[in-house]
Order: sequence, then structure tokens, then C-alpha cells
Amino acid sequence: YDKMKFEFTKENKARVESLLTWYPEAERQGALLPLLDIAQRQHGWLPISAVVAVAEVLKIDPMQAYETAKYYTMFHMKPRGMYVVAVCTSTPCFLRGSDDLLKACSKMLRLEPGETSKDMQFSLKVDCCLGACVNGPVVTINDDLYEDLTEVSLESILSDLK
Ligand code: FES
Repeated sequence: YDKMKFEFTKENKARVESLLTWYPEAERQGALLPLLDIAQRQHGWLPISAVVAVAEVLKIDPMQAYETAKYYTMFHMKPRGMYVVAVCTSTPCFLRGSDDLLKACSKMLRLEPGETSKDMQFSLKVDCCLGACVNGPVVTINDDLYEDLTEVSLESILSDLK
């Protein structure tokens, strides 16, 4: 997977260009984190070639970009799905049925926790308390938090993503 080629899409190129207008030429490397974020959102994870592409845009040493990406836990340098579905299994959510929800989710996605679909669309994982216990069971899908879920509501959310 380290051999994966990366090129910004037309939309993301435009995003990058627009973002760079906020940075004076001499301070462009300040855009490193947002650019890595744009690159990561393209596939749901950050291949090395994407880090190199970002370094090229900013005209910085690729190693500096790589070290930065490795440092922050928000950057995922191993392949994972475009959508990462994380089911909270901590006690409050468990008491509100997260185990059944996880089973249903696993069935809907045909994935066990820790797995990624072959088409790289979905990864399924379990998570610890997401800080929304009163509204459990809770699931996050990338940046979005879904509360008070039932199998039916989760199925409809997932089918919108397929
Ligand atoms: Fe699930 Fe806190 S236990 S959000």
C-alpha cells in the first residue's frame, strides 16, 4: 500500500489553492496540517505519496511532512475505509444495546470489528466512550456523531453512504 499513487482531485486542488491564499508566501508551511487533512479526506487515509504531494505543494522537505503526519494521531497512514464506522461499546452504551447494534452493523457491512471492506469504502471498529453516554447507543462515522441509534436508523444512515 506504500506504492499507492496519489494525485489531488480537481476539487481538492481548488481547495488547496484557495487555502494557500490565506498564507503569505514565506509562511506557506503553516498550511501543512490543513493540506494533509485535505489529502487524507480524499481516500480516508494518508498514503506516503499523498504526504509527498503535500510537501511538493508547500516546497518543503517530504521528510518534514512525513514526520508531522506520523506525529498526529488524526492522520492515518495505514489503509482504512473511506468511512470509518466506530461503535461505542463502553458500559453506558452497552446498557442501551450497543452490543446488538454492533452485531447488526457487522452484518450490514459484512465486516468484523477491525476489518475494512475490499472496496475500501468501510472500516468497522469498536470505540470507547465518545462522551455522549446519555444518548447512547452512539456511533461515529468519520467526523459525525450519531446518537440514540436503533438498528433501523443505523441501517438508513449506512445505506445513504453506500
Ligand atoms: Fe458510549 Fe459514553 S459510553 S458515549
